Amino acid sequence: MRRIQYHRYGGPEVLRLEEWQPPRPGPGQVLVRVRAAGVNPMDIGIRHGRLKSLTGRKFPRGLGHDFSGVVEAVGDGVTRLRPGDEVLGVTSLKAAGAFADMVVAEETDVVHKPANLSWEQAATLGIAGGTAYQGLKRAELQSGQAVFVAGVLGAVGRSAAQIALAAGATVSGSCRESAWQDAHDLGVSPAVGFDFDAQKLRGRFDIVFDTAGKLPIATSRTLLKPGGRIIDIVPTPAKFVRSALSRSYQVVIGKANLQDVEEIARLAKDGVLRPLISQTVPLDKAIPALTELERNRAPGTGKLVFTMMSES
Ligand SMILES: NC(=O)c1ccc[n+]([C@@H]2O[C@H](COP(=O)([O-])OP(=O)(O)OC[C@H]3O[C@@H](n4cnc5c(N)ncnc54)[C@H](OP(=O)(O)O)[C@@H]3O)[C@@H](O)[C@H]2O)c1
Repeated sequence: MRRIQYHRYGGPEVLRLEEWQPPRPGPGQVLVRVRAAGVNPMDIGIRHGRLKSLTGRKFPRGLGHDFSGVVEAVGDGVTRLRPGDEVLGVTSLKAAGAFADMVVAEETDVVHKPANLSWEQAATLGIAGGTAYQGLKRAELQSGQAVFVAGVLGAVGRSAAQIALAAGATVSGSCRESAWQDAHDLGVSPAVGFDFDAQKLRGRFDIVFDTAGKLPIATSRTLLKPGGRIIDIVPTPAKFVRSALSRSYQVVIGKANLQDVEEIARLAKDGVLRPLISQTVPLDKAIPALTELERNRAPGTGKLVFTMMSES
C-alpha cells in the first residue's frame, strides 16, 4: 500500500510517497480503501509542524484528513459499518493519513456516502463543510438572520454561505473584486472586497463568520447588530483568550462527530453543499501538486483532490 508520509516536520520537500503497511483497525475503528482525498490548508500547516503540540513527534506521519472510499475491515464493536460500504469521513487531527491507498478512522467520523455524490465530491466535505456547519451552529443561526462571511468563496466560506442560505438567512461576504460575480451566483449580496468599508455595513449582521481569520475585531464588531455573534476559525493564543472571555466572539475548532458528519452528508446529498473542485490528480502525482499549491496557490480556484486506484 502507498501512503504520502514524512519523517520530520518541514516544507513540501519532506514529503515522500512510500510503501506502508496499514494497521488492523482497533476497537471502534474502520479501515477504508481510499478512493479520493481532499486537501485542506491545515494539511500544510500540520506538515510544517505548526500544531506539533497536538500532532506530536512520532514519525513517519501520514498527511490528509478528508477522504471517501470503501470500508475494507472494521474493528471490534463496529456495527454501523461493514466491509464493502461506500463511505466518506475524516481522520482525527493527530492520526491524519488520508493521502494513501488505505486509511484508519474512528467509526464515529465515517458515514455512508450519498449515492449521488462522486468520490471526489464526497472527499471534500468533512473538514470545510463540518467547520462551516459547526461554526453556524455555535452562532445559533436562525432563519431570517443576516450573515456576513469573510472569505466567502473559500472552502469553508462557500460552505457557510450555502448552509446559511438554505437555512433561510441572507448572506453577504467578502472576496476578491474580480470574483464578485461568483459570489452573486452563490446568492451572496452584497459582495465586497477584502478591504471593504465596514462603516457602510454598520450594524447589519446577526453573525459575522471570519473564515480567513483576518478581520480586525473592531471591524467585526462594527458589522454586528446588538447581541450578534462573531465566529473565527483561525485561532491564535490571543484569540483563544478573547474567546474564553466573550460570549459574542467565539473561536471554533471543527471536531467531527457522527451527528454532524451525517448532517453534512445529507446537506450534500440534497444539493445544499456543492463543493468546488479545481483539480483532480492521481496519488502518484500528489506531491508535485501539493508543492505547486503551496508555492503558487491561485486565488479562488476550489479544492485539490487526489484519487486512488479503483480496484485490487
Ligand atoms: N478551525 C478549524 O477547525 C478550521 C477548519 C478548516 C479550516 N480552517 C482554517 O480556515 C481558513 C480557511 O480555510 P479554507 O479551507 O476555507 O481555505 P481556502 O479554501 O483556501 O479559502 C480561504 C479564503 O480566504 C480568502 N481570503 C484571502 N485573503 C483574505 C482576506 N484578507 N480577507 C478575507 N478572505 C480572504 C481567499 O480568497 P482568494 O482565494 O481570492 O485568495 C479564500 O477564498 C484556513 O486558515 C484554514 O486553516 C480552520
